[in-house]
Amino acid sequence: MNTSTAPIGVFDSGMGGLTVLNALRGALPQESFIYLGDTARLPYGTKDADTVIRYATQAAKALVDRGIKLLVIACNTATAAALPALQAAFAPLPVMGVIDAGARAAVAASRSGQILVLATESTIRQQAYERAIRALNPRAIIQGQACSLFVALAEECWFEGDAVTTVAKRYLAPYLSPHLQDKPDTVVLGCTHFPVFIPVLQSLLGPSVTIVDSAQTTAHAVKTLLLQEQLQSTKTTKGHCAFLATDGVERFARVASCFLQTEFHSQDVESINL
Ligand code: DGL
Repeated sequence: MNTSTAPIGVFDSGMGGLTVLNALRGALPQESFIYLGDTARLPYGTKDADTVIRYATQAAKALVDRGIKLLVIACNTATAAALPALQAAFAPLPVMGVIDAGARAAVAASRSGQILVLATESTIRQQAYERAIRALNPRAIIQGQACSLFVALAEECWFEGDAVTTVAKRYLAPYLSPHLQDKPDTVVLGCTHFPVFIPVLQSLLGPSVTIVDSAQTTAHAVKTLLLQEQLQSTKTTKGHCAFLATDGVERFARVASCFLQTEFHSQDVESINL
């Protein structure tokens, strides 16, 4: 088989990875993708690292069994816990996560080096962003805030409104005080579910704070890797995208419609068991 025409596998615990998939499809229109949302076991972000490694390995295997040429872990929690394990388990398949890309975007955006990471409890606990940011800027001052409730709100398609604002204010309260010394000038969205909250977050943080996420930078890194490995698609037509879910396809289609801002049907989704 000509590997260059094989699809790129993308997985997330749920729908958040669709924000990464969108960026990938925009940057790589000739590539085909298989997206897997492990919706039956969402959230990953409150779970133990060993559990996340086990879930991520099963999700990755389902994609590898379908003949992918590259795997993108479009989930920060799974990247933080399982990137080295997946790289070892599926070598020589190239496996990429989203944290290095998010860290690069944050360091590039920050003038003061004061960076706030918003992520799941698991990603914050593992200090994955701290390590990745500090490797790029050893003098960076990094704070981390777990925002677990954002995942449930995003999967409910509640991207704005009173409930979102109340939750966001509560999470951001320690960083909004005008008297705060180490006020972040950059906020990195260290969870693929969080870009849907950018308007609410920006209105609370104010225009002087830059909000970055890893979607675009990941897409750029994938493009570079495909070129390096000579794996880029040789097709001249638009690639296609298949969707897999481990829980109900109706719910997947409904929530995916909100995330992708486009009509999505349950017939477009295949239900699988891991
Ligand atoms: N998408 C996951 C991430 O980027 C968070 C959702 C979850 O907790 O499963 O960390």
